[in-house]
Amino acid sequence: MKFFIDTANIEEIKKGIDMGLVDGVTTNPTLLAKEKKDPQEVIREIVSIVNGPVSLEVISKDYKGMCEEARSLSALGGNVVVKIPMTEEGIKAVQTLSREGIKTNVTLIFQPLQALIAAKAGASYVSPFIGRLDDISERGMGIIEDIVMIFGNYGFETEIIVASIRNPVHVLEAARIGADIATIPFAVLRQLIGHPLTDIGIERFLKDWETLKNKG
Ligand code: E4P
Repeated sequence: MKFFIDTANIEEIKKGIDMGLVDGVTTNPTLLAKEKKDPQEVIREIVSIVNGPVSLEVISKDYKGMCEEARSLSALGGNVVVKIPMTEEGIKAVQTLSREGIKTNVTLIFQPLQALIAAKAGASYVSPFIGRLDDISERGMGIIEDIVMIFGNYGFETEIIVASIRNPVHVLEAARIGADIATIPFAVLRQLIGHPLTDIGIERFLKDWETLKNKG
């Protein structure tokens, strides 16, 4: 299972890389806006420091605009994956870009048939948003189960990125189902490592070790 970091924050990406937990990065316009910096500069830096796929999202809504943006984004580096929204125009763009050898990540997927259509169009990745479904009282992980089964039925090579992750249980469930990738906010990435009993255990071992000093 690959871990991507879901952020446009350079410090978080660098820390995640140091932790050895960054197989790739996903960004979106909201995450870039949060940084309050020149987005073009931020994008260029992310593409240059990450040794893995970096998803960058188009902001055009029409086929022609999406294709043009995708071509200039993909020229930024061999690791760029262009994020295209799941719309009729988007699916048309994915077909064209796939023929041109440009990698795409179809985003804002909320039901399994959208993922099937994106895979048929030649998407390299699909991004089902599970947290946003949970937020409206739908079981987000249910669509991951369905997409894993559907892609398996037909042998699609499109990879599933579990997106809109809110907590470690989302990552655990995605791993149990066998999703290819989880894209994880930095705070959740850190939560994956720790456990209070690990900390208590270390303290107890060190305290017991200290008692040996009095015996020497
Ligand atoms: C995925 O590619 C998106 O950037 C992200 O996971 C959206 O998450 P959110 O629902 O927390 O905004």
